[in-house]
Amino acid sequence: MKKNKIALLPGDGIGPEIIEQAVKCLNAIGKIYEIEFEFSYGYIGATAINKYGNPYPSETDQLCRDSDAILFGAIGDPKYDNNPKSKIRPEQGLLKMRKDLGLFANIRPLKIHPSLYDSSPLKREIINNVDLIIVRELTSGIYFGKPSATEENGMEAYDTCRYTSTEIERVAKIALDLAMKRRKKVTLVDKANVLETSRLWRSVVTKIKEESYSQIDLEYMFVDNAAMQLVSNPSKFDIILTENMFGDILSDISGVLSGSIGTLPSASLGEKHKLFEPIHGSYPEAAGKNIANPVATILSAAMMLRELKYNDAANHLELACYNTIQNGVVTPDLKIDKHSKNNSFTTEDVGNEIVKEITKRT
Ligand code: IPM
Ligand code: MN
Repeated sequence: MKKNKIALLPGDGIGPEIIEQAVKCLNAIGKIYEIEFEFSYGYIGATAINKYGNPYPSETDQLCRDSDAILFGAIGDPKYDNNPKSKIRPEQGLLKMRKDLGLFANIRPLKIHPSLYDSSPLKREIINNVDLIIVRELTSGIYFGKPSATEENGMEAYDTCRYTSTEIERVAKIALDLAMKRRKKVTLVDKANVLETSRLWRSVVTKIKEESYSQIDLEYMFVDNAAMQLVSNPSKFDIILTENMFGDILSDISGVLSGSIGTLPSASLGEKHKLFEPIHGSYPEAAGKNIANPVATILSAAMMLRELKYNDAANHLELACYNTIQNGVVTPDLKIDKHSKNNSFTTEDVGNEIVKEITKRT
């Protein structure tokens, strides 16, 4: 039997608790589908700074390179957020990992399962046909542009947004290929009325579409309008293709549509490596309290199974998550009023229930 080497990077805040639940679920799925996992843990973020003085130590980098896939929890610690002078920051670990491993395409799907309809603050008729994927460029743009600095006088700071046509092309191809398997519609989200980089995105993406993807309906939308449409008419979107920071912001909005950002998974893909990560952050207020929603991480593990070509196992794991929500076994972020046991479940309860759902259907 093939051994799947999985690097587990729990990271900070609620990361360790949610990764623990995902591991339980993967083990349960592995037993049914005879998938063997070899899990190895690595440090990243604030926990890595504490141990190695470095948010992405070489030990972690090596572990990731030696793995078939990486499952990541969360990153961030208020100790650093509240100290703008800090030179070393946990987030640098995640950004360096994405950059060094070449994980340029971040795939953030949003399909609202009926079990989540009652949790969304939006009306059912707005969300019931939503099935979109945000394809976010992940290793360039303003997150990585040089120069970026604070002037010595402390009175001025700047970041640079830079893109090359190669960086745009490779992520655009991923989005266009995905669209070919779906409704053949791509919305390129940018700020081309203001930014040079956005105009480069438009010309590169238009050229690829014209040369190789003639069946695709390519639409352009400014990011401010896209933010509005995501909450007023989200079912109009199929694939949203966008640059790094716009994708970061829009994906948090998509978290609201589903009722909780704690339910949304993602895959960060490159040529050689693949990483799976919930789209939410480290939720430090909840760390160690056993209240964080593990579903986004468990659904990320399902995306991992699909990328490793275990399709049936992936579908099975997803169904187990949705059945668990349907049964009302949810953490406090998912407010499902019709269930009287509302909000009384812990991270661990939810993980255990998903395992139960997994083993029920064999
Ligand atoms: C995300 C997160 C990260 C990002 C942070 C933690 C650096 O918000 O994955 O969306 O901005 O990319
Ligand atoms: Mn984000």
